[in-house]
Amino acid sequence: MSEVKKIAVIGLGYVGLPLAVHLARHYPVTGVDINSRRVEELRAGHDRTNEIDADVLSASSLHLTDQISEVGDADIYIVTVPTPVDKNNEPDLTAVRVASKLVGSVLKNGDIVVYESTVYPGVTEDVAGPELEAASGLICGEDFFLGYSPERINPGDKEHTVDKITKVVAGQNDEVTKVLSEIYGRLTTGGIFVARDIRTAEAAKVIENAQRDINIAFINEVTTIFQKMDLSVYDVLEAAETKWNFLNFSPGLVGGHCIGVDPFYLAHSATALGLHPEIILAGRRINDGMGKYVADCIAKELAQKGKGTGAKILVLGLTFKENVPDLRNSRVIDIVRELESQGFLVDVHDAFADSAEAGAIFDVTLMPSLDEAKGYDCVVGAVPHQPYVEFNVARFETLLNKNGLVADVKGMWRSLELPDHIGRWQL
Ligand SMILES: NC(=O)c1ccc[n+]([C@@H]2O[C@H](COP(=O)([O-])OP(=O)(O)OC[C@H]3O[C@@H](n4cnc5c(N)ncnc54)[C@H](O)[C@@H]3O)[C@@H](O)[C@H]2O)c1
Repeated sequence: MSEVKKIAVIGLGYVGLPLAVHLARHYPVTGVDINSRRVEELRAGHDRTNEIDADVLSASSLHLTDQISEVGDADIYIVTVPTPVDKNNEPDLTAVRVASKLVGSVLKNGDIVVYESTVYPGVTEDVAGPELEAASGLICGEDFFLGYSPERINPGDKEHTVDKITKVVAGQNDEVTKVLSEIYGRLTTGGIFVARDIRTAEAAKVIENAQRDINIAFINEVTTIFQKMDLSVYDVLEAAETKWNFLNFSPGLVGGHCIGVDPFYLAHSATALGLHPEIILAGRRINDGMGKYVADCIAKELAQKGKGTGAKILVLGLTFKENVPDLRNSRVIDIVRELESQGFLVDVHDAFADSAEAGAIFDVTLMPSLDEAKGYDCVVGAVPHQPYVEFNVARFETLLNKNGLVADVKGMWRSLELPDHIGRWQL
């Protein structure tokens, strides 16, 4: 291993693109993505994930390609490909395997391959390493080396960006760890934490997200209890949060590529060891059940207003979180489908999502605009995108029929006073 000359980032999505752009300020970097359309868009300065602004992308020295053969002169490979679950909620490591084969096809003596994808402990050494060996004919730990550095960025979060957060790194040996500390140390001002080994770093990442999932599940469970007691969970949380060590979580749907998925990676590891992970899977069940719970509550409120089959509902927001276009694994669709199955007529609008993607992923036709929207019996605030947060009473009066209902899933309109003729439901 000599001095780092060139870095290749494999997979240019929410994680890979910001990483590659920031690394390109310090090193020659090539970004590789097998999706040629993504590469073309990025070359034209357009990042559909909204993580990197067009001017930053255009000014970057990052070289973009869909051909792994263009990066044979790299000495560090950083793999940032998706790690979803399959239909049985089992880890789907296809992209990790395919990316490893691609990297293996150009790997040379002395190279380091770092994985940033979220995985369960053991994937880097037991799955990726052998794929790299098979494709390269080289020996892992002798001819080339492995590293792991989990990614912590949060889509849409402009504060905790890749250049500011603490980066956990682990290498197959001390020399690799030193190289990784040097590279990531240049990238971030948030400092480097050297984990004991690769498996420890993998485990740390997977519990970060599982912990969030479980905490949100707890709040979701107490929400359903407080609803029966006619208490607002938000009022209860405001009071409880005044205690110094009360943890700050809010109720709602849990979707996206990470928090709703990573606990299944941990559960997979546990099950493989003959253990039954109770809290982890209970958290998943509770959070996955929230869409139906919300839809049932809304249907009940509407029934009390004499509105049932054929009533018109406008759902605002389809993405998995606010102010991002990311639709992956969004659970808003559970609310939409459940309301439809109960006979309601549901329209969906999203201020940021791509309508072609919404059609492809969920078979949902998004409303092109809200300009002509009116005549609804209920407006469901499913995702607190900023344009929806700014709604005022006049907006609701335009959208709603007489005696309409505002269903505020995320509590975004809690402080908005509604006139008596508009009903309100919230978690
Ligand atoms: N999105 C997040 O906020 C976040 C945060 C922390 C960790 N992670 C983890 O990082 C990893 C990547 O997530 P993401 O959100 O960036 O995914 P993404 O879907 O946004 O991007 C992945 C990119 O990899 C490309 N790709 C897939 N297979 C490839 C291959 N074999 N070779 C080259 N490119 C390939 C895809 O075309 C896509 O552009 C996942 O393991 C995820 O769990 C994501």
